[in-house]
Amino acid sequence: MITQFGYKEGVIHWGEINLKKLAQDFDTPLFVYSVDEFLGRMKAISESAGYDHLLCFSLKSNSVLALLKEAAKRGFGADVVSLGELLVAERAGFLPSKIVFSGVGKSNGEIISANEKNILLLNIESESEYNFIKKLSAEQKINFGLSFRVKFEVQLEKLHPYLGVGKKDSKFGLEESIAFSLYEDAFKSGLPVSGIHFHLGSQIKDMEIFRRASELALDFIFRLKKHGINLTYVDVGGGLGLDYENLVEPSFSEYTSCFKPIADENYKIIFELGRAISAPSGILLTKIIRKKTSGGKKFFIVDAGMTEILRIPLYKAYHKVMPVEMNSKKEEQVSIVGPICENSDYIAQDIILPDLSEGDLLCILYAGAYTSTMLMNYNGRPHPAEVVIKGKEVFLARKRQSYDDLVARDL
Ligand SMILES: Cc1ncc(COP(=O)(O)O)c(C=O)c1O
Repeated sequence: MITQFGYKEGVIHWGEINLKKLAQDFDTPLFVYSVDEFLGRMKAISESAGYDHLLCFSLKSNSVLALLKEAAKRGFGADVVSLGELLVAERAGFLPSKIVFSGVGKSNGEIISANEKNILLLNIESESEYNFIKKLSAEQKINFGLSFRVKFEVQLEKLHPYLGVGKKDSKFGLEESIAFSLYEDAFKSGLPVSGIHFHLGSQIKDMEIFRRASELALDFIFRLKKHGINLTYVDVGGGLGLDYENLVEPSFSEYTSCFKPIADENYKIIFELGRAISAPSGILLTKIIRKKTSGGKKFFIVDAGMTEILRIPLYKAYHKVMPVEMNSKKEEQVSIVGPICENSDYIAQDIILPDLSEGDLLCILYAGAYTSTMLMNYNGRPHPAEVVIKGKEVFLARKRQSYDDLVARDL
């Protein structure tokens, strides 16, 4: 549930802010974020843990600097997967000692840059990556803690095939036996081994999955210990799922308690959460451009689509849509579609909405994660503006692209 969000005198407000007015002031499509929601969620997750941990916000879910700066200022960490994200995290003010770097295809250059920046952990995902780091250690001191991303065998069948990334045959991470021998080699070679990492996937709602991974990780850590390899950090990845349909909150305390057995053994837990923090902290405002009936089906053609919410066609994801203004009691079944030349360009299929007119506004909920970080210029569509609500204030956090921006890189 999004806090302080709902209709006041027939118009959706977020806190004190009237969303109709916001759309008029900044135009649509428009991403709107709430700092209070964003920080409130980070704080709630952190407080629910009750043990030694570092909450690293996953930049791949949202990288709007104005939000990141707020998290950095309050001592949270960052989870990055590329040099690009690392530089953004640095710009936002995250301490390098609170940055963890994962990613299945880090280039040699990215690893060298991460080493220069003294980040907390580098999560190694292949033997080749490890071999490069070992070679590098002959030339320069390794400043980051080494950590291996291990694929524990946890049942992930219920997840969307694109979201269950921890499966045995996925490209990510290392199989347990390979990881174990790399730990032994790194330890013998005197490399600064300090952590272990696993990330099972995204949109995980079954806590049993996290609990099982936690058990397997602890067992693995004990086996390492028997070989004299002592770790400090256990990076449990991200993946806490949300109910996009009914907006029922996941239990943060149930989630964090899954890793308590590890924390009880005096390991510091690192969370790399993205969606559970950022999705409900953002909405997308869009305007109805045209109404149309075709083949007996009613369509609202709106000014946002897969270029703004790619995750809908990518994962057949659901997002709740609400009219910004509620001034008709008559209802109709409609499909909300974007203006892009693809059949997969839709926002919602056959939903019930009040009888709305061209020019009316819709609000797409839980749009703060994996949306603006996946923007595309396909069909010559400039990226929308992104605004942030902070208390009673609203400010432009990212300006809308201009049409000149569409050709700015052409020589
Ligand atoms: C390595 C890693 N960590 C963290 C995350 C964040 O996941 P989520 O946004 O589901 O919490 C992801 C997302 O795919 C990831 O790949």
